[in-house]
Amino acid sequence: MKSSIRQGVKLLATGSAVPDLCISNDLISDIVDTSDEWIFNRTGIKERRISSSPTSLIDMAAKASMQALDKTQINTLDLDLIILATSTPNDLFGSASQLQAKIGASKAIAFDITAACSGFVIAMVTATQFIQNGSYANVLVVGADVLSKWTNWSDRRTCILFGDGAGAAILQSCSTVKNNILGFHLNTDGQKFDQLNISCEYSNFSDKCIYPGLRGNFKHITMHGKEVYKFAVSKVPQSIQSCLNSLNLSSESVDWLLLHQANNRILNAVASRLMIPAEKVISNLSKYGNTSAASIPLALNEALEDKKIKNGDLIVMSGFGAGLTWGTLIFRWYG
Ligand code: COA
Repeated sequence: MKSSIRQGVKLLATGSAVPDLCISNDLISDIVDTSDEWIFNRTGIKERRISSSPTSLIDMAAKASMQALDKTQINTLDLDLIILATSTPNDLFGSASQLQAKIGASKAIAFDITAACSGFVIAMVTATQFIQNGSYANVLVVGADVLSKWTNWSDRRTCILFGDGAGAAILQSCSTVKNNILGFHLNTDGQKFDQLNISCEYSNFSDKCIYPGLRGNFKHITMHGKEVYKFAVSKVPQSIQSCLNSLNLSSESVDWLLLHQANNRILNAVASRLMIPAEKVISNLSKYGNTSAASIPLALNEALEDKKIKNGDLIVMSGFGAGLTWGTLIFRWYG
């Protein structure tokens, strides 16, 4: 999809935050019938962080945001827009406004994007549109999720996978010649929504004023693991290839493949289909598991702090998950 670009976009800085509580595979083996060996062999996960506070989503999002902002000359009052990608809000009306209040960004408009594990990529694309069309100059994009609160801890097929975390990125407008965000490619297949979801169940209730009434109650994560696996390893390489083609770039020109951290086997299969060597795949899921919308910015921040990513590197970022949704964003890093 093409749009007229009036301003360029520069990714200035990133930040991240995770809860202190670390749950190892061995600990999970005390709760359900599994083992460290099974989990690690099938997923690459060793441990994950779990939050225990009701305010953890906003606390982590704020910590990651301030860490990113502290690396720039921008202060919170300079922010025009905050986009919070989360599927685990602490308010169904949205949580971004609480993040705006917590960091004191009173001049910023703030809203949530709900797109599960593709949330951060879709939020980055959305932020890019607002900057490129000249509407806003300084944008904070956050991916934060606390899936542990929606995990069925007696279901060994899912509870081994997820963890909590937050990651943030600061985007700023710049001249079009310095534009860092090169292109994107997004997809949705709503026919398969039930392959991975947290559904709302309704039950009848009677009330003096409203009759008959229905009351909603969200359930826990349900997933068809094999189907989701097949979806990821087939659709994600196609999305990346389409995006590369649209920019006349080859997969050899990719310096880093930054995929949603769902499963090492998925990461390796996608890389191998694109003929991208394993050394170019960023992976930190052994420490955090699948942190949904947080996973990409968490891994990006870590790779930048470790100085893995160098000036001018071409990075392919790709998210995929519930919806089903998937999408790719390609950018160059200039720190
Ligand atoms: N520990 C031990 N055994 C387990 C287990 C666990 N945690 N979970 C499932 N098993 C068992 C199953 O009961 C089954 O046993 P059976 O053959 O006796 O029936 C066997 O292991 C194989 O189960 P299966 O579901 O076929 O495993 P799998 O090879 O597909 O691996 C996943 C399961 C979840 C790791 C894999 O399907 C996957 O990674 N899918 C993608 C999930 C994902 O990334 N989701 C998020 C996307 S955003």
